[in-house]
Amino acid sequence: MYLLLGIGVVIGVAYFYREIVVKGKRCTSKVKLHGKTVIVTGSNTGIGKETAIDLAKRGARVILACRSRQRGEAALEDVKRESGSNQVVFMPLDLGSLKSVRSFAETFLKTESRLDLLINNAGIFMQGRTEDGLGMMFGVNHIGHFLLTNLLLDRLKACEPSRVVNLASVGHNFGKVDFDCLNKHKALGLGTSSMNVFQVYCDSKLCNVLFNHELAKRLKGTKVTCYSLHPGAINSELARNTSSILQLALKPFTIYFFKNTVQGAQTTLHCALQEGIEPLSGRYFSNCTVRELYEKAKDDAAAKKLWELSESLCGLS
Ligand SMILES: NC(=O)c1ccc[n+]([C@@H]2O[C@H](COP(=O)([O-])OP(=O)(O)OC[C@H]3O[C@@H](n4cnc5c(N)ncnc54)[C@H](OP(=O)(O)O)[C@@H]3O)[C@@H](O)[C@H]2O)c1
Ligand SMILES: *[C@@H]1O[C@H](CO)[C@@H](O)[C@H](O)[C@H]1NC(C)=O
Ligand SMILES: *[C@@H]1O[C@H](CO)[C@@H](O)[C@H](O)[C@H]1NC(C)=O
Repeated sequence: MYLLLGIGVVIGVAYFYREIVVKGKRCTSKVKLHGKTVIVTGSNTGIGKETAIDLAKRGARVILACRSRQRGEAALEDVKRESGSNQVVFMPLDLGSLKSVRSFAETFLKTESRLDLLINNAGIFMQGRTEDGLGMMFGVNHIGHFLLTNLLLDRLKACEPSRVVNLASVGHNFGKVDFDCLNKHKALGLGTSSMNVFQVYCDSKLCNVLFNHELAKRLKGTKVTCYSLHPGAINSELARNTSSILQLALKPFTIYFFKNTVQGAQTTLHCALQEGIEPLSGRYFSNCTVRELYEKAKDDAAAKKLWELSESLCGLS
């Protein structure tokens, strides 16, 4: 009798824990986006795809900016079907190639007339080098988005009020920016052990937060605002390059404790849509709530130094 009661209580608590804590808050904004244009990078899978579906349902013209034509075009069909909108376009963008970023921006600026929302969502968890010889995670997660945003800034200003949303991670708390290593090797770190990969990933996510911090300062006086965020721990394809044995071993844990991709898209949607958060430009969100950052993630000097180094690495200065 007591045993049954005990089991019942445990199941009940586990159920409510998952429903309330794990799933987290939802974006409650009812904003419609008819006549608005949005770009979502890395939107062929994961939370980027769910973000694209939600924005398309709200009436936006959605540009799927993805590196693989095959996966991008497959996603295009899914997003159109699930949103019921035909205002969805695939445009090739490989963030690991400065040439591709420039050619994406050129095509976009020539063929589209607006840009209301830029969602810098794509991300990678893997060591290696980009086409331009940059560290892979530094190059894709930070530099590609840095260049993309800069090339699209005039259009965002012309369409204000407009927003930039930068997908970072709570992992940025473990990050550091090793400027010596960046200057010498154009990478945040060189090791390839799992621990090194995790560290460099966190470093690249700290770059995302610092980029957002500096961008907000440079946009003062305009109605273009920007936000960085942690989407939660999500069952997506992000860990695809980690050991399959580890992935399998963690499965029971991730199935229970991780969000699905719809839940994972909620904080992005909050930052993109919520009315009245403009005074919070430059800040960091998680669980649809603004959060305090540690000093290193809002360090003015480091953010400025990273911006200037990034400009010279992608030939903007
Ligand atoms: N999942 C989590 O628990 C978690 C936690 C914190 C933060 N985040 C962040 O959330 C964002 C979305 O991640 P996710 O979980 O949805 O991961 P995902 O399922 O792996 O999706 C990542 C997307 O980025 C794209 N991408 C990778 N490299 C690219 C490149 N060089 N050029 C263009 N696109 C590229 C991928 O395209 P392909 O399919 O072609 O590779 C894919 O569409 C990332 O910035 C990630 O760091 C995720
Ligand atoms: C998210 O916010 C909701 C509502 O405030 C709260 O109940 C839940 O515990 C939070 N989840 C996380 C992971 O912080
Ligand atoms: C991760 O990617 C690298 C580079 O493509 C590859 O050499 C390595 O085998 C991959 N590891 C796993 C576990 O998939």
